Amino acid sequence: MKSRGRSRRAANAPPEHAAATTGTGRPPALLLSGLEPFAVGGKRRCFVHPGDAGLCVKVPLDGDDRIGHAEQRQDVESYALMQKRGLAAALDRIPAIKGVVETDLGLGVVSRMCRDADGQISRNLAELIRTRSVTPGLADAIGELKAWLRDQRLLIRDTGPHNIVAMRLGADEWKLMIVEGWMHRRYHWLVRRNRFLANYWIDRQLRRFDERAETLTDAEQDPFPAKGPGKGIGG
Ligand SMILES: Nc1ncnc2c1ncn2[C@@H]1O[C@H](COP(=O)(O)OP(=O)(O)OP(=O)(O)O)[C@@H](O)[C@H]1O
Ligand SMILES: [Mg+2]
Repeated sequence: MKSRGRSRRAANAPPEHAAATTGTGRPPALLLSGLEPFAVGGKRRCFVHPGDAGLCVKVPLDGDDRIGHAEQRQDVESYALMQKRGLAAALDRIPAIKGVVETDLGLGVVSRMCRDADGQISRNLAELIRTRSVTPGLADAIGELKAWLRDQRLLIRDTGPHNIVAMRLGADEWKLMIVEGWMHRRYHWLVRRNRFLANYWIDRQLRRFDERAETLTDAEQDPFPAKGPGKGIGG
């Protein structure tokens, strides 16, 4: 299967030092090293859970990789924090985290897999923009995501389009999900308390998102006409 990250082609071979056991003496609960990841990001490899195709398992690119492990921890902690603070509505666009599991490629974070209505694994927005440009339905979905982020006062950590996955619900009907960095923990408390700052930062981030999306597409097509400050793709 084709790798779907922004990423290098799947680094299928496990790192040479990947442990066959987890260091605890117990065999890992999940064996992933013989499987092909469906996506490889800059920090992690993503697999379809061998026991449940509705779930995704992410492991660090390299078993010892500190950045990959830090990302894993951030995901789990941020999700737990959002649950604890009762930000239930905010979880609507974040794939549910089901837990952490020991694998033969290091500690894996298990989350819900984003799939299209036909069962295919959904593609990320960067890939879609590169291959299809921005259809009217996709532009609407981007507008909805932006409105939702403002509404939820959610400052995410990385607005890169490769961190947003587009679930295809119909011919040109999409729902966008945030698969990484859904909470900027350093500023989260401030954003919750100060509506003015929240709007300012979120708008700034969304402008950055537009800029990154624009670099993915052919400038001549110009599917992102400027609509004024803080607007851009999808409004
Ligand atoms: N729950 C999911 N459902 C479907 N696809 C997903 C899911 N999580 C991740 N992906 C796909 O895997 C890719 C890489 O995932 P992710 O962004 O979590 O990895 P990363 O290595 O941390 O990323 P980065 O390259 O941003 O550092 C995403 O761009 C997306 O295409
Ligand atoms: Mg990513």
